[in-house]
Amino acid sequence: MSFAINSKALDVGYQGVNSNITVLSGLDLKVETGRFLSILGPSGCGKSTFLRVVADLLNPLAGHLEVLGGSPYAARSRRDVGFVFQEPTLLPWRTVRDNVLLPVDVGRAKLTRSITDRSDELLELMGLTPLAKRLPHELSGGQRQRVAIARALLGEPRLLLMDEPFGALDEITRDRLNDELLNIWRQTATTVLFVTHSVMEAAYLGERVIVLAANPGRVVFDLDMTATKQPGNRCHREDSNIVQAMGTLRAALERAS
Ligand SMILES: Nc1ncnc2c1ncn2[C@@H]1O[C@H](COP(=O)(O)OP(=O)(O)OP(=O)(O)O)[C@@H](O)[C@H]1O
Ligand SMILES: [Mg+2]
Repeated sequence: MSFAINSKALDVGYQGVNSNITVLSGLDLKVETGRFLSILGPSGCGKSTFLRVVADLLNPLAGHLEVLGGSPYAARSRRDVGFVFQEPTLLPWRTVRDNVLLPVDVGRAKLTRSITDRSDELLELMGLTPLAKRLPHELSGGQRQRVAIARALLGEPRLLLMDEPFGALDEITRDRLNDELLNIWRQTATTVLFVTHSVMEAAYLGERVIVLAANPGRVVFDLDMTATKQPGNRCHREDSNIVQAMGTLRAALERAS
């Protein structure tokens, strides 16, 4: 069995000018390759910090972390990791289409017919086709976030880190994009780590859901959803199993808050 994420006794924090803080302490987490993991936890508990250390944007203070079988640095160097940040990071001078095609310019993908077709497909999937020629400042927050998602997907990362990617969307669009994301995940062997504040979204998307608590950030609840769902991580939002799992997760989240 191979693991996309394997952390043991991992401590992560920030070294500031006046103080050092430890955000995650003794974090043990193994995520099998190809899995869809949802991550819940109260604000400030260290969800984004965890994604940052996986993406090699931050060094651990102590402990062990393997990403796709090697160091976070090696995974990043191979451009195996895609990141959709909590705040969409688009280049303001590039149009929507050119922002989506950014992985080509940074060498993560080759500009071929199939890549331009794929970028058009992703723009369509994200409902961005009519906006393709606009600049980021001409978009709403949710539209910008969808551009960032299309861009991350274009690079076809083996590991996709998503930090509350759909938080800024209306519920109908969010539900639709949840389904599109699951479709894309089913067609690829991508491992997804998906941070959300929505218990419903976590339960609907995840094959497994973990809940983190704060001070120090650690895993306090770990729910395997595979028995709750049909094969292929399929379910309906109103399935009684899912509603029940949501209740369990909400209670765990309350205890963690
Ligand atoms: N660059 C930084 N320097 C110092 N402390 C930081 C930095 N970034 C985050 N923190 C602190 O680390 C802790 C965890 O932050 P993090 O952003 O990981 O939380 P989170 O779980 O993603 O919260 P949210 O749900 O609000 O996004 C918080 O206490 C935060 O104040
Ligand atoms: Mg965060």
